[in-house]
Amino acid sequence: MSPDRRGPLVVAHRGASAARPEHTLAAYELALAEGADGLECDVRLTRDGHLVCVHDRRIDRTSSGTGVVSEMTLSSLGELDYGDGDEPAGLLTLADLITLVLDWTSRPTKLFIETKHPVRYGGLVESKLLAELARFGLAAPASADHSRAVVMSFAASAVWRIRRSAPLLPTVLLGDASRYLGGGAATTVGATAVGPSIRTLREHPEIVDKAAAAGRATYCWTVDAHEDVALCRELGVSWVATNHPGRTKNWLGS
Ligand code: G3P
Ligand code: CA
Repeated sequence: MSPDRRGPLVVAHRGASAARPEHTLAAYELALAEGADGLECDVRLTRDGHLVCVHDRRIDRTSSGTGVVSEMTLSSLGELDYGDGDEPAGLLTLADLITLVLDWTSRPTKLFIETKHPVRYGGLVESKLLAELARFGLAAPASADHSRAVVMSFAASAVWRIRRSAPLLPTVLLGDASRYLGGGAATTVGATAVGPSIRTLREHPEIVDKAAAAGRATYCWTVDAHEDVALCRELGVSWVATNHPGRTKNWLGS
């Protein structure tokens, strides 16, 4: 495999989150309207076992309430406002987001789902996630290229569990340079892509070639500056996650 010379595809990080409150329907709808090729979200488990799109362990920063997601029920989380004070916004579940992606028929957009707190819950998040993907017919794609879902994690154990249970689902092992250089964990857990931050990639651009030599794509986050988008294109990165999907698509002319 060679580095991707088609120019990176653009993934909206938490939706078009520079312009709309992160992880809200408004943020994802704007990202789709701006031409995003993929949507990124973080998923956490509620106390009663539902997967919701929330980044932090607590909801204090992004909602009108306070508390820890895993200690609250779907119903209590659903009563809060996730908007920015101007426009109210509801809680987004993973099922809501999958439905949005599957209903968007203009382009085959991919969903990049990052599992949070995977160690503490010892696989529960991954098994719930696979069950949810299976419910929508997304857990066993014909090939990684055709998959509408990509599962990502900083935890090698989470990626390993997904690979074991759903071998055709593409995966991204997020992390720093030590993970990818010198035969690191991306090889051992069989992730289909490596996921360095843009800072890591600036310091270690050789990650892209090394990953490609091992048959792996590169997903880079969070790529907002023009010179970083240009660097990713030059290096042959396959996917860039950005808070500004429309602007990034324009820069890339894609
Ligand atoms: O897309 C990966 C990136 O989102 C990882 O960092 O903290 O934004 O989830 P974080
Ligand atoms: Ca994330």
